[in-house]
Formats: sequence, structure tokens, C-alpha cells
Amino acid sequence: VTSGAASRVVALAAGRPATAPAPDLAGAAHPARRLLHALLDGEPGDDDAAVAGLREEYARQAPAWQGWTSAQADYLAPLVDALERNPDLAAKGTVVVDLGTGTGEALPPLLARGSTVVAIDLVREMVREVPPGPRCLRVQADVRRLPLASASVDLVVGLNAVPCWDEMSRVLRLGGRVLWVSSFGPRTPLYVPPDRLAASLPGSTVEWAPAGHGHWALVEVESCRD
Ligand SMILES: C[S@@+](CC[C@H](N)C(=O)[O-])C[C@H]1O[C@@H](n2cnc3c(N)ncnc32)[C@H](O)[C@@H]1O
Repeated sequence: VTSGAASRVVALAAGRPATAPAPDLAGAAHPARRLLHALLDGEPGDDDAAVAGLREEYARQAPAWQGWTSAQADYLAPLVDALERNPDLAAKGTVVVDLGTGTGEALPPLLARGSTVVAIDLVREMVREVPPGPRCLRVQADVRRLPLASASVDLVVGLNAVPCWDEMSRVLRLGGRVLWVSSFGPRTPLYVPPDRLAASLPGSTVEWAPAGHGHWALVEVESCRD
């Protein structure tokens, strides 16, 4: 356990193991990593350029995205591990936002638990490939401006996604939580480590665990506590 004035980070035992070798993604050198950092660490006013860069990058990747992710044996291992170890997450009747949904990779395990999911992505070419289905709304939007009422969401999920801490905190209800998941850890271009989550959400409690080739982090946000 590490803790500071602002937050508490609790490392849990590793969960389900990987079943196949990890792909080589060269995440640290990927253009999306630089754009993520420009968004998270850049000067005020840099955001629009970073988001435009991300839009271009993922529109380019959209045609091949579903084929690539479905070929990765352990892609969903950290997400499934988190849901199995926290059975109340995404339970029947809960409202879940899947941020940066891509082509809906996180949706099957979230919907299987009975939640209603709002699947949101910046890139039209991604969202239109999300399979339609009951209890699932597909929305094209920027994480910085979610078309959702304040305090209306039980769980924000980000699977290899781009965060916007203020906006995520705004839409979460009291007691709502954030589940941030990385399929391949630092190999993933859009990588946000658990410590960074804790530092960005002051007063939060972050429980995290390795699983597959990545990890999950479950965040209780101070301003969203009952
Ligand atoms: C690495 S992909 C992850 C997709 C999916 N969650 C998965 O794990 O396969 C990142 C996704 O975030 C989306 N994205 C990037 N910037 C965004 C923003 N500002 N708002 C919403 N979505 C964004 C991209 O379009 C892309 O689909």
C-alpha cells in the first residue's frame, strides 16, 4: 500500500494469467502515446490539437481494429478479472459508460452482467462498428464533453482509453467508480498507470491488480463517495 495526502493506492494479488505471448506494440514510441501525454500534461490550449491527432490516428486504425483485437487471446483478461473479483460492478440495473469504446471490445462482459452501457467514442468510423443490441447506446462524443447529465453514471470504464478526469467525475453519481483497464500495460500506446490515476483524482482510493498481460485499476473517487 502506498498513500499520500491526496490518494491511496492498494496493489492486489495478480489475477488470471495470460495464455499466449503478448504482441509487440512499441507503445512508448507510438504516436498515440505522445498525443495522450500532450492531452494530460500539456499546456492549456494544447488539448484540441492532441484530440485532433487522436481522432486522425484512430480513424486510420478503425477498419482493422476489430479484426486485430479479436485475434489477441488475452485482450480482455484484465477486464474480465476485474469484473469477476468485483461482482457488484456492472450488475443489473447499473448505468455504465464505456469511454473510448473503439468497436465495442469491452461490451460483451459488461452487458453479460446486466448493466446498461453507453458506448462512447470520438471516432465515427469506430462507433459505427459497435454491434447494436439491447441495453447498449452508441454515441460519438469527445471524453472532454460527454453528452450525459451530471451524477447520472454508476461506473466509468476505460479499456485502453483516453481519460478526462473532470468530466468523468462530473458524470459519476455519489458512490460511482472508475474502472481503468490496460490490456498490455506499458506496451499499450494509451497507457495510464494506477499511480497516475490516483494522482489525477485527488482523494481517491485505487485498488489495482495485474492480470493477463496488463492490469485493472478500480477507483473510488473522493467527490463521488456516499
Ligand atoms: C486504443 S483504442 C481502445 C478501443 C477499445 N476500448 C479497445 O480496448 O479495443 C482508443 C479509443 O479511444 C478513442 N478516443 C481517443 N480520443 C478520444 C476522446 N478524446 N474521446 C473519446 N474517445 C477517444 C479512439 O477513437 C479509440 O477508439
